[in-house]
Order: sequence, then C-alpha cells, then structure tokens
Amino acid sequence: MTTFNILLLGSGGREHAFAWKLAQSKRCSKLFIAPGNAGTLTHGQNVPINPLDFAAIENFVLENQINMVVVGPEEPLVRGIWDYFQAREQLKKIPFIGPSKAGATLEGSKAWSKQFMLRHNIPTAGYQEFTSETLDVGLAYLKSHTLPIVLKADGLAAGKGVVICQSHTEAETEMREMLDGKFGAASARVVVEEFLSGIEFSVFVLTDGKTYKILPEAKDYKRIGEGDTGPNTGGMGAVSPVPFVDEIMWAKVEERVIRPTVEGLKKEKIPYKGFIFFGFISVSGEPFVIEYNCRMGDPETEVVLPRLKNDLVALFDHCARGTLGRVKIRTDKRSATAVFLVSGGYPGDYEKGKVITGLDKVKGGTAFHAGTAVKEAECVTAGGRVIALTSLGKDIPTALRNSNRNAKAIQFEGKYFRRDIGKDLI
Ligand code: AMP
Ligand code: GLY
Repeated sequence: MTTFNILLLGSGGREHAFAWKLAQSKRCSKLFIAPGNAGTLTHGQNVPINPLDFAAIENFVLENQINMVVVGPEEPLVRGIWDYFQAREQLKKIPFIGPSKAGATLEGSKAWSKQFMLRHNIPTAGYQEFTSETLDVGLAYLKSHTLPIVLKADGLAAGKGVVICQSHTEAETEMREMLDGKFGAASARVVVEEFLSGIEFSVFVLTDGKTYKILPEAKDYKRIGEGDTGPNTGGMGAVSPVPFVDEIMWAKVEERVIRPTVEGLKKEKIPYKGFIFFGFISVSGEPFVIEYNCRMGDPETEVVLPRLKNDLVALFDHCARGTLGRVKIRTDKRSATAVFLVSGGYPGDYEKGKVITGLDKVKGGTAFHAGTAVKEAECVTAGGRVIALTSLGKDIPTALRNSNRNAKAIQFEGKYFRRDIGKDLI
C-alpha cells in the first residue's frame, strides 16, 4: 500500500478541512501545507511558500520527496501549476490533484465557461460578451435588456466580479467602469447575463478525466447580513445536505450538467483530475449553472468533508491513477453546518492581529481555521474570514445548535457571525 508525503497548497478554512481529513488517513505519512494557518499546524507542518511561486514549490517537492500534490485555491490552477509540473521530467509523474490550465479556464474565464456550456448544451442563463472594442454594441444591448441585468467580469476577481444592476443607467456605468479596468485585466471582457430568480445550491464532483464521483451537496450563505442582505462575501456559512435537492433534482443535475461537463472536457481533450464545483440556481425546479469553479468551495468543504466517510488519500490516489470508477462514495447521513466568524468590517476593511480566545471551549464540533496565524504563541486573526465552526447533527437544527454555541464560545475583538445560517432550510 503506497503511502504519501503530501503537499497541500492554500491557507483557508477549506485547506484546514482538507488537512484534517488527509491526516486521518493511514496512507498519509507526512503532510505539509503551504502556507497553511494556525489550524493546519495541528495536522501537519506549515511551510512558508506562496502557492503562486511555482519554482519554490518545485524545489520543496523535490527536496522533501513529495509524492502527492493537492491544490486548494483556484489561482495557482488558473495560472497553470499543473502545466508547470507536466513540463518537468521529475515532477510530471507525481500524483497531482487539480486540473490543467485549460480545465481551470472553466473558472478563470466566465466567457469561456459560457461558450463551453453552449457547446455542450448545458443549461445556463442567456448571455453576450463585450470588450472595450465592442463597447457601443454592448451599451445598445444593455438598453434593450430586461431588468435586473447581471454583469460579470470575465476573469478572477476575488469573488467581487459579479454585479446585479437594478437599472439601465447603473448597468451602463458598471459596464464602462469594468471595461475601464475596475477589476484590472479580469474585466477587460464583460459577460452580460440574463437574471435568474431562484434558490442556489452547490454540487461537487471529483473527476479523474474519465469518470466522476459525486460528493455531498451544500448551500452557501454568501451575503454578510442576516436574511441574505448586504454585500457578498467569500461565504458566511454552509449546510449539507440541502433538503430541497431531492432525487428528481439530482437526476436533472447529473444528466443535464455533470455528465455533459465531464464528457465535454474529455471530448475537448482537456486534462482534468480534480474537483469541479457547480454553482446552481433552481428556477422552479429546473437547475441552471451560474458558475463553475475548478476547486472545492470555502466554506462548503467544511461541511462536505465531515460527511465524507471515504479515506481521502485513497480517493486522491484513485483520481490520480484514473481508477475512480472503482470507488464507491460513502456519506454520513447526518447534517453538517458551518458558521463563519469574521473580522469586524469584513468584507470591507478590517483589522488583523486580534487575539483569539475560547478555542478550548469548542465542543461537539470542529473549529476550522481560515484567517488565523500564530504570533508569540497566541492564536490571532489574520484575515476577514477567521474560523468556521462545523458540527454534525441528526438534522440541521441539531447541528446548528452546536455550531452557534461554539461560535459564541470563541472571542476576539470585532467578531461577527450570522445567526441565521441554515434557518431558511428548517
Ligand atoms: P459568482 O461569482 O458567479 O458565484 O456569482 C455571485 C453571485 O451572483 C451568485 O452566487 C448569485 O447569487 C449571483 N448571480 C450570478 N449569476 C446570476 C444570474 N444569472 N442570475 C441571478 N443571480 C446571479
Ligand atoms: N463559497 C464559494 C466559493 O468557494 O467560491
């Protein structure tokens, strides 16, 4: 039985959850997290390497006999870390969880992902794309568009690139600003999309490029304020399973979206061994794709992995070898909830370095660290989203009671969390 020295890239709550799950496997001999946070430290060794510094990663991999690489965030993938490994003799055989640059374009370019969905007949909102060269056509198009109008920066914009405009004037201004560099190169191209009204949920698969395995679904709470109000964040909490995603919905999701996506990648000869995250909106029971991501979600991972019974290292080994077809996914029937503690001011400006206390009071659940660091032997805040409190329970209310109690037990100056995560599903 092969054991692995694993290098996990990233530093969020998602990576803490990955580290927690990977370290439970007998097949994990060593685990390194680059750069990690104060939580990943308890499951492996943090190494101060930036996930975008491919040359430093290469050196570390070779010096430490790493034989499995797992990429958490999208940016290294979109910048082509898989292709970097493939281009090097000593690296190309190393099991690598994460798609090629071409595959990561599903997330890296909204325009490309829309074209991909059109090519493969995958249900999504109608759209047009514009650049500064076609600004006049774009402005004319907006004038005849029904309200609201969804404008999306084509490239990666740290979750801020989607703007829903309630008036034509707002949409015109937004389009001009985006094409003028509001999100830098990411908004040199703008996608104008039909607005879909419905309820959102997320689905995750692991694919080896031939077949796929479906993981538990989740619902994310993106807005900062209770009752889904205020600006978008990276995610304030998550719940899995999602009660309204029933068998009928699953059948539609798999037949209309998952299968054609994996088949489409295969037909287009796009190497993909890793996660695909499907963001869905259910419009009167019909699933439409609103986005693809080329990685797991955060905070969705913090509720998906605690419900996954399989050994994650074994699953990754099958994924890398192309033998995922042999695997049966086993899921914990219980519900998982995650409530995120964030820094005061987030998603706007916030302060860092606040001492975190009460971690020892967390009971009946797990505190997954996101924006934390160790400073002079103390755990301090180091980001907007600080800690996700995950609990499992026989149902959503039971799990939520634990997550909320633990959310109250942890203290730091400026702490904020939403008290209504999952309430809409009860
Ligand atoms: P994204 O960054 O693509 O996840 O989009 C952020 C959020 O914008 C989504 O979670 C949705 O709430 C919303 N959104 C994106 N596209 C649409 C659409 N076509 N219709 C309605 N809402 C949308
Ligand atoms: N929670 C949404 C994301 O990870 O993109």
